[in-house]
Amino acid sequence: MHDFSTHNIIVTGGCGFIGSNFVRYVVREHPGVHVTVLDKLTYAGNPENIAGLPEDRVELVVGDICDVALLERLVPGHDAIVHYAAESHNDNSIADAELFFRTNVEGTFQLLEAARRHAVRFHHVSTDEVYGDLALDDPTRFTEEAPYRPSSPYSSTKAASDMLVRAWHRTYGVAATISNCSNNYGPYQHVEKFIPRQITSILTGARPKLYGDGRNVRDWIHAEDHSSAVWEILTRGRIGETYLIGADGERSNIDVLRAILERMERDADDFDLVHDRPGHDRRYAVDATKLRHELGWEPAHADFFEGLDTTIAWYRAHEDWWLLAKEAAEARYTAAELGGSRNQMRAPDEGRCE
Ligand code: NAD
Ligand code: DAU
Repeated sequence: MHDFSTHNIIVTGGCGFIGSNFVRYVVREHPGVHVTVLDKLTYAGNPENIAGLPEDRVELVVGDICDVALLERLVPGHDAIVHYAAESHNDNSIADAELFFRTNVEGTFQLLEAARRHAVRFHHVSTDEVYGDLALDDPTRFTEEAPYRPSSPYSSTKAASDMLVRAWHRTYGVAATISNCSNNYGPYQHVEKFIPRQITSILTGARPKLYGDGRNVRDWIHAEDHSSAVWEILTRGRIGETYLIGADGERSNIDVLRAILERMERDADDFDLVHDRPGHDRRYAVDATKLRHELGWEPAHADFFEGLDTTIAWYRAHEDWWLLAKEAAEARYTAAELGGSRNQMRAPDEGRCE
């Protein structure tokens, strides 16, 4: 345990999928902690994700992480910033990289500057995608020492933000840590992403769409396990260190899709193969030995299929949460397919930094 207090924390992007999971986790598991959520409420942010949490524990501030004046008012008096806010979808980044650059790079820069000015602890939530991809038959996995080789506009901006955090720690002494996590799943994930897209397509009578040959591998972890890992790193991680987060959950896309189809009582071949994502990373695989050995972290959701069942049940029960977002996301995918190019896909850009 280090000297930093974590009684009063800012969580950026706390109305998104993983950020809101972390806020609910902290409220449930750590009663002494107050959370200020800073979220711009882009198309991916939904205040419903943190609705019902006690008002004396969680405050929502709607704003942009690039807004220096807002950060100058907000950051003093807080002990730590846990930074989740980002443009997070690879397909959208291929259509409009500028927004990703501004939020993911400039936004992280402004937060680091605020953390430096006010001597606040900083935890940066990043992705395994900064390490590029592995061949299907490569016996190795990503470790903290793997070289940075990002493939997409999204992952290149996350890689850039990681570099800023390392430099601000070394040059200015910002008390920072970084985590790079693998693919998350669970309730509240935006319907543009693979697992919720397929579940909600089946629920609305549409055929799931599988990119390329469907053999790409992702390393799945339940969002609650990501949250518990971030908490351990925030409170007990060594300052200046990077920790990989993963739960040994490698599965091919086609296997995951067939598992969803089977659970939803559809034929195993009831999907369409569609054209591939440009630059599509083949395989991610995370070795989380450092996190497990140094901090004693273990995932609680070891059974992927159990997690998948509860996730399917959640989407079945929460059509009111996802239906409008589904229509908007599918309209973007359809426009791209009609144009024959994924480059026509873009998210509404209300998340753009001013
Ligand atoms: P998400 O898209 O569901 O949520 C992003 C949140 O950030 C939204 O609430 C949005 O409103 C907010 N936001 C966007 N731009 C903002 C800005 N300029 N100012 C303030 N708020 C802004 O994303 P997610 O999937 O929950 O991912 C959260 C973080 O975790 C990201 O940094 C992502 O890179 C990282 N990550 C995601 C995964 C995954 O599998 N989804 C895995 C590893 C790491
Ligand atoms: O690895 C961590 C990353 O995981 C995070 O940094 C990103 O924020 C998060 O979005 C996720 O990135 P991916 O690109 O891996 O996730 P996505 O859900 O977009 O796609 C998962 C896999 O499924 C990928 O191989 C592409 C494929 N896919 C996706 C969609 C939406 C399909 O085959 N069909 C689809 O309809």
